[in-house]
Amino acid sequence: MFENKSGILLVAGFIFFGFAFVSNALVPILMYRNLPEKTAEELVNGNVRYQFEDLARRFPEAFEKTYGKPPTQPAEREAWYNANCAAALRLGRKIYTGEACWHCHSQFVRPVSNEERRWGPVSQSVEYQNELQRPVLFGTRRVGPDLSREGGRRSSDWHAVHLFQPKLLSEGSPMPEYRWFFEGSPDKPNARGLAVLTYIQWLGSWLESYPDYENYEPSPILKFTADAASPKAAAGGQP
Ligand code: HEC
Repeated sequence: MFENKSGILLVAGFIFFGFAFVSNALVPILMYRNLPEKTAEELVNGNVRYQFEDLARRFPEAFEKTYGKPPTQPAEREAWYNANCAAALRLGRKIYTGEACWHCHSQFVRPVSNEERRWGPVSQSVEYQNELQRPVLFGTRRVGPDLSREGGRRSSDWHAVHLFQPKLLSEGSPMPEYRWFFEGSPDKPNARGLAVLTYIQWLGSWLESYPDYENYEPSPILKFTADAASPKAAAGGQP
């Protein structure tokens, strides 16, 4: 068998396959086997909640038509927004899969080619331990940009117009028009439109660097005032 090159290549192929299986399948499973998978409800954080409520301000009629009126009592109101936001995330993910957005967009910042300079922090496996990543939406190719840190980068108005008619905002864009997310115009998103907008704004909302801008540097002024606010840090200790 080892007299010819193809025999050696065959055995090497099996060994490399085994190695890839261990490193890409077994190791992640073993690393996260005790970590519970997060549900959509647990994924609702302050950032995406802000964006969801912001939809109610930007598209009041469409929002009320889809979700109804929020309760006036503060505690009920809070629970109402959280529950609807989680439902929107679930539906948004369904649409993202159904419309094959993943066919043109990845959700994975790789640790190569300085991708983090373009799209933000390199993806970590723990980010995929949740209901909305079953199965993971890494994507297979990038006709458009990676979307895993898209949340907060642009306003929901921008996304609405872009989904309605991408060429209006990005000349020559090959992205299809998703008119069926709207009732005739970009300021009238329907249930699907609102869900997709929520989903887009959620992407990366769990990171400290949200929203993530290209070449984003936190303002030095902010650091200065943060240091001043914490006497321990000002005295040279760890903040
Ligand atoms: C045929 C490929 C294709 C499909 C399918 C597609 N897109 Fe795109 N998308 C692109 C390209 C190319 C761009 C960059 C040019 C532009 O902004 O239109 C883009 C840009 C975007 C952007 C703006 C990113 C940024 O900040 O500049 C968002 C958000 C987006 N797409 C979301 C979606 C969603 C959601 C879907 C599914 C409903 C989708 N795309 C389907 C190709 C595609």
